[in-house]
Amino acid sequence: MKPFKFSFLFLVFRFLLLGCAALTAALAPGLLRLAAIIPLMLMPPAKYFYCLFRLRELSCSGLEEAADFILGSGSFFTGMLQRRAEIISFLRETFPAPPSVVAEIGRAKGGALMLLCRAAARDALVISLDLPGAIHSGPLPFINKGSWRLPLLKAMAGPGQDLRLIDGDSKSPFCAALFEKALGGRKLDLLFIDGDHTLAGVKSDFEVYSRFVKPGGVIAFHDIQPGLEEFGVAVSRFWRETALPGVRTEYIEDPSQVSYGIGVLRLPV
Ligand SMILES: C[S@@+](CC[C@H](N)C(=O)[O-])C[C@H]1O[C@@H](n2cnc3c(N)ncnc32)[C@H](O)[C@@H]1O
Repeated sequence: MKPFKFSFLFLVFRFLLLGCAALTAALAPGLLRLAAIIPLMLMPPAKYFYCLFRLRELSCSGLEEAADFILGSGSFFTGMLQRRAEIISFLRETFPAPPSVVAEIGRAKGGALMLLCRAAARDALVISLDLPGAIHSGPLPFINKGSWRLPLLKAMAGPGQDLRLIDGDSKSPFCAALFEKALGGRKLDLLFIDGDHTLAGVKSDFEVYSRFVKPGGVIAFHDIQPGLEEFGVAVSRFWRETALPGVRTEYIEDPSQVSYGIGVLRLPV
């Protein structure tokens, strides 16, 4: 049996178990109901503290180990909306030396942020800008929101890294000013654009934030593969139709896939 089939069956089993517990909690009488309610109530906090503990353990891990966690047992609180092979190849192959100043626009649960931290230098400055719960937030936008997430996000950075979290609309001048302040006069080695995927959104993120990238630095766009236009996703159109300065590379796991894919633009020196 292939591992992904096994994990799919495990997922189905977990949902069935949860469904039974929820039904018992709703319908069963007396003590039986209590016996179902207590584990249901304890599960989310237990999972949260487990995630926090594992994130701290993984703070100096490699990319593969971090990806195992965020796509496996940590996925509910810390998952990523990325194809594992694409983001790992992109991060491994793009930088001859670990980048020192890195930023992402669009954090969601922070899974890609964790991989950016793992790929960056041990003393890197990492900026993550997001409007939690905004457009293109993924399947459970409410999970991305709330100050209870802060300890999880902070634990994604390595002990010597300086992680700055900015919450706000990337299109607002106020946000751009906060971003510039967080940079403290430094320039980015990598800007990962994965926020508002509408044409206006990705265009604005490129136009506003590319000026913070150093000559020879990298701007990466997520979701360059077409297929989700009906949901307003237009990164593919932007990537294909915009004249961008520099050398392009694409990381697309399967040319027939719907969406995903990372377009990498290396700016001229
Ligand atoms: C596709 S998700 C990011 C996925 C994440 N990079 C990952 O790999 O797991 C897009 C994120 O962008 C955020 N977003 C959407 N519009 C935004 C805006 N105008 N400014 C900042 N963030 C925005 C959403 O709230 C969401 O968290």
